[in-house]
Amino acid sequence: MTARMPPEVTLLLVGAAFAAMGATYWHFYWNKEVCNGSWINFNKTALKIDLKRKLFGQHVAAQVILKAVTGFMKSKNPKKPLVLSLHGWTGTGKNFVSQLIAENIYEKGMKSSFVHLYTATAHFPHEAHIKKYKIQLQEWIRGNVSICPHSMFIFDEMDKMHPELVNSMKPYLDFYNNLDGVSYRQAIFIFLSNAGGENIVQVALDFWKLGKERNEIQLKDLETALSLSVYNNKNSGFWHTSLIDKNLVDFFVPFLPLEYKHVIQCGLAEMARKGHFPSKNLVKRMANDLNYFPKVERVFSIQGCKIISSRLDFYI
Ligand SMILES: *[C@@H]1O[C@H](CO)[C@@H](O)[C@H](O)[C@H]1NC(C)=O
Ligand SMILES: *[C@@H]1O[C@H](CO)[C@@H](O)[C@H](O)[C@H]1NC(C)=O
Ligand SMILES: *[C@@H]1O[C@H](CO)[C@@H](O)[C@H](O)[C@H]1NC(C)=O
Repeated sequence: MTARMPPEVTLLLVGAAFAAMGATYWHFYWNKEVCNGSWINFNKTALKIDLKRKLFGQHVAAQVILKAVTGFMKSKNPKKPLVLSLHGWTGTGKNFVSQLIAENIYEKGMKSSFVHLYTATAHFPHEAHIKKYKIQLQEWIRGNVSICPHSMFIFDEMDKMHPELVNSMKPYLDFYNNLDGVSYRQAIFIFLSNAGGENIVQVALDFWKLGKERNEIQLKDLETALSLSVYNNKNSGFWHTSLIDKNLVDFFVPFLPLEYKHVIQCGLAEMARKGHFPSKNLVKRMANDLNYFPKVERVFSIQGCKIISSRLDFYI
């Protein structure tokens, strides 16, 4: 094929290849993420709209998150980093909310080099290596905050983190002006865990049994449930750690169990995201096949929205 091409075509192709390389270099050079206002820029209105339109069934969490993140990002000189602890059953939107927060602060969202996601079972799986993990994690936090004070760290499966590892983060979450010349006060830490999920479900179920509207549930109705499970639950990830005693967590954020109608909303949004025309019939068929709790009344979805993306593929 190449042999038959006239020389001027070959020349043209080589030229085009060089031009493409130049464009890629130019693109890379000018779009290199920098730790400044061009790449890190919080927009309160956009976060508010995202929480309203994309997060389903979490009026309490949405309110707390908006208030917490806005207050923190507005402050020129925060006294400590922002520490949020999100609690609830899987599939209720904890990961998703972290993503929304990242997208409304960092131009590149979760892909930003200033956003770090750690999953306990993937990053810190072996109890025997806890010493090594502690050193590593401290180095990661220190190194990344040195490069960019506005770094964000998300810890998934907080309930599976070793307490010693959780404690090793303590200095960075505290009110220190700086530690060895690095200030952590502009960083954001988000902890995700299933701990407290059962207690939150109980509150939601009690409301439902009394015939009250879900929207009437307020933060104060859930606070006791949350603090009980966080303080007393061996599996909460905070057990025997001094994060609690020292009030280093700024907000505990409850995620309610999702109902059938929220699963439908998730399904329709997911179909649109996958590029299909949203079909209510199809999504209903999928939602009907999921598991609900309690078994007879089928009020709360057990898997929430987590498996919907993969489930939908069977029905489309
Ligand atoms: C951020 O840094 C880049 C590269 O140094 C620069 O071009 C840009 O103007 C800076 N943006 C702000 C808001 O300072
Ligand atoms: C913030 O987001 C809203 C909604 O997306 C948008 O209309 C507005 O222009 C944004 N503001 C800035 C300063 O980017
Ligand atoms: C930042 O954190 C990542 C892990 O999330 C780590 O691989 C990297 O080495 C850290 N950077 C610095 C400068 O410590």
